[in-house]
Amino acid sequence: MILDIVTLFPDMFRGPLDDSIVGRSREAGRCEIRLHNLRDWARDKHRKVDDDAFGDGAGMVLKPEPLFACIEDLRREGPARVILLSPQGPLLTQGRCRQLAASDERLILVCGRYKGLDERFIEACVDEELSIGDYVLSGGELAAMVLVDGIVRLLPQALNTPESAESDSLEDGLLDAPQYTRPAEFRGLQVPEILLSGHHGRIAEWRQQQRVERTRRKRPDLYRAWTKENQ
Ligand code: ADE
Repeated sequence: MILDIVTLFPDMFRGPLDDSIVGRSREAGRCEIRLHNLRDWARDKHRKVDDDAFGDGAGMVLKPEPLFACIEDLRREGPARVILLSPQGPLLTQGRCRQLAASDERLILVCGRYKGLDERFIEACVDEELSIGDYVLSGGELAAMVLVDGIVRLLPQALNTPESAESDSLEDGLLDAPQYTRPAEFRGLQVPEILLSGHHGRIAEWRQQQRVERTRRKRPDLYRAWTKENQ
């Protein structure tokens, strides 16, 4: 999978994309992540990428020229889906991560900054907007890292135990069951008896009950959606 990231702050990505599952996937060649500094497409002598908003809106807006030029250059290398990280997009879900991981489309992730981007760029060049939550970050960079992590861990062979991704929270609309490891008793606190029983069928049943119950208690919004789907 090829991911191009367009940002004014490529250095922000160094740690998160170099370590752990994403770092290993890059080293193993399962994904190629390329960082592009939008300022490299600024053509004026001050390399200016933003300007005052027209009208009485306060704040700076990313200018259309560098954005158009950048995407046009990147698209010259081949077709790609342009995703803008922005609080205005629909919320990113596990389902969308799975679809993107399964598709062989090259992705260009554009990180917004300041007050926003010139709307003409969004209309002409952006295929999809995605938000990672109903709050405003100072730019799309952290959101792009979240999206990359969510996708890359689902690429074939990214996880040591792929079954563990299948039973992840939210894969089927429910939270995960509680997990325990040794010791079976710690400071007088016991691991639920059933997990030590060796009855695989009953354990699976117990886990499913726990998932439903935890979702109902912790995330009533997800629970309502799940019951509607599973009636
Ligand atoms: N940029 C600023 N806030 C954001 C958010 N919540 N999601 C995605 N991109 C953003």
